[in-house]
Amino acid sequence: MKDVYILGIESSCDETSASIVKNGVEEIATVISSQIDVHKNYGGVVPEIASRHHVKNITMVLEECLEKANMTMDDIDAIAITYGPGLIGSLLIGLEAAKTLSFVYNKPLVPVHHIAGHIYANSLVKPLEFPLLAVVVSGGHTELIEMKKHYDFQKLGGTLDDAIGECYDKVARVIDLEYPGGPKLDKLASIGKDTYSLPVPLKDDSYNFSFSGLKSAVINLAHNEEQRGNPLRKEDLACSFQRVAVESIINKVKKAITEKNIKHVIVAGGVAANNGLRNAMTELCNELGVDLSIPPMKYCTDNGTMIAAAGYFAYLEGRRADLNLNSKSQDTLK
Ligand code: KG4
Ligand code: ZN
Repeated sequence: MKDVYILGIESSCDETSASIVKNGVEEIATVISSQIDVHKNYGGVVPEIASRHHVKNITMVLEECLEKANMTMDDIDAIAITYGPGLIGSLLIGLEAAKTLSFVYNKPLVPVHHIAGHIYANSLVKPLEFPLLAVVVSGGHTELIEMKKHYDFQKLGGTLDDAIGECYDKVARVIDLEYPGGPKLDKLASIGKDTYSLPVPLKDDSYNFSFSGLKSAVINLAHNEEQRGNPLRKEDLACSFQRVAVESIINKVKKAITEKNIKHVIVAGGVAANNGLRNAMTELCNELGVDLSIPPMKYCTDNGTMIAAAGYFAYLEGRRADLNLNSKSQDTLK
């Protein structure tokens, strides 16, 4: 079969990225322009500022990616684009660039759901085996997705309130860590002890999660300690929080693996970079004898590589969009 080269474009939040992937599994070249340093000053992503930076960066990122790959648009078979979910102003910049390239170079346009991108980041590591369980943990999502074949997504459950990454970032703020606090909290947890008592949320029979109660429990605990004049042991609080957050994910993952006869578990999304979660998932999958894939750190946070990889499988499925394709800030994974 002829090799298929997909150009993936991602701009759903604060990363402008383009990547070329061969046959959905081999990364040829990737460029990521991150805006973390810009948004850090505001303690979170400011949508209007993010869109303006995407406008400034997108052409440069695309040109650099083709140059790095030593390819031209003539070598590209299709353009995969994140159409949603995400920040609408940010999404639109990548989408307009993708549509323009599709029109000018007469290349098929393949729409990709951002979460499908995070899931398919794993195919750059190891082929997906079915039935598969995708544990989607990011700044905007916490979901368990069952897949019986490619591009077949069955949501088993998800968060009823905050996403796990959002909770990490908010708890990190309580202990004065700079945005994005998730990775810093993870690092701090590794030197702390599990000494604070926090409740494991939603210990029920569903596949759902809840993180807002845990976030409030941390805020209350910090206030109470302050009122009592007790200095907050930040590394211990980070460690106790991480243990509870990870346990709440692991409980439901264990239930899904056994009830759904899962063969392969993958972890997707920014929080897949979390060391506590990586260790606990490895232990659980060893215990239950199922395969586990966790993407390397560089594929965990937003990037065009995962969009190109997901785009390849969508391309094989015959998924195409025309120039009427619009960005969607919310959309179910399908
Ligand atoms: O997938 P992603 O790049 O963006 C979304 O699509 O949401 O995920 C970003 C989220 C942020 O909340 C960030 O704090 C969190 O992932 N994150 C982590 C770690 N690395 C990134 N959270 C906990 N531990 C980490 N090591
Ligand atoms: Zn993401």
